[in-house]
Amino acid sequence: MMPLAQMAESVLRCADGREKTALSRRLAAEWKAARAAGERPEIGHADPPMHPARPAKPELLEPRDVPSRKPGTPEGRIALLHAVAHIELNAVDLHWDIIARFTDVEMPMGFYDDWVKSADEESKHFNLMADCLEEAGSYYGALPAHAGMWRAAEDTATDFMGRLAVVPMVLEARGLDVTPNMIKLFKQAKAQSAVEALETIYAEEVAHVAYGSKWFHFLCGRHNEDPKERFHALVRTYFHGHLKPPFNEEKRAEAGIPPDFYWPLTA
Ligand SMILES: [Fe+2]
Ligand SMILES: [Fe+2]
Repeated sequence: MMPLAQMAESVLRCADGREKTALSRRLAAEWKAARAAGERPEIGHADPPMHPARPAKPELLEPRDVPSRKPGTPEGRIALLHAVAHIELNAVDLHWDIIARFTDVEMPMGFYDDWVKSADEESKHFNLMADCLEEAGSYYGALPAHAGMWRAAEDTATDFMGRLAVVPMVLEARGLDVTPNMIKLFKQAKAQSAVEALETIYAEEVAHVAYGSKWFHFLCGRHNEDPKERFHALVRTYFHGHLKPPFNEEKRAEAGIPPDFYWPLTA
């Protein structure tokens, strides 16, 4: 088995969505099998690209240039599925990137277990969304997508705690806030496979946020820092704009993010 950091790099350097997720799932299964057999595989070091390889399509546009479509229409639902597919593909890269990028910091094996599992789930999520798009007569790449998605990774490329604060604890936590309404919308449209796919995503995302909170608190403890203060400082440094209520307080609590972490960042 190659060192984990190199596995991560190979996923980051794979451009096609379906190929990237297939590779990601295969490597995650290898890791999982080794860990289940009681091994402590080598983490190693790698040279992750600043921008992961991506397919030629979708065309990436600045958020203000991405046309908005009415969510109540079939076209609007396809646009929504397409946007989620794009988020999931980014998430695959984000999880492998946190594995590959910060190997100079020694972390417990459980850190790697958590992010390999998350990357595997994001790969499944991308495939679920791509399947739903195809079922609806479209495909991932058919529409333009947001260009800004990787900005958080770039901004925090040299700040491990900043990465944990902004990616799982802000961006993925935001997913917990907005997914229930999305599920409602597809239920109203009686789009059963999209409802089931989004329910899987919603259920599994809680753990990704929880892993973020767990390892953020771990590092704060290692450096004897106050987690809430540090979180606020990092989000104000690296996240552009304020956090937007309403928050899914129940799921955020389940994921280990208390209200005093996010409410002060709404203004
Ligand atoms: Fe996901
Ligand atoms: Fe996630």
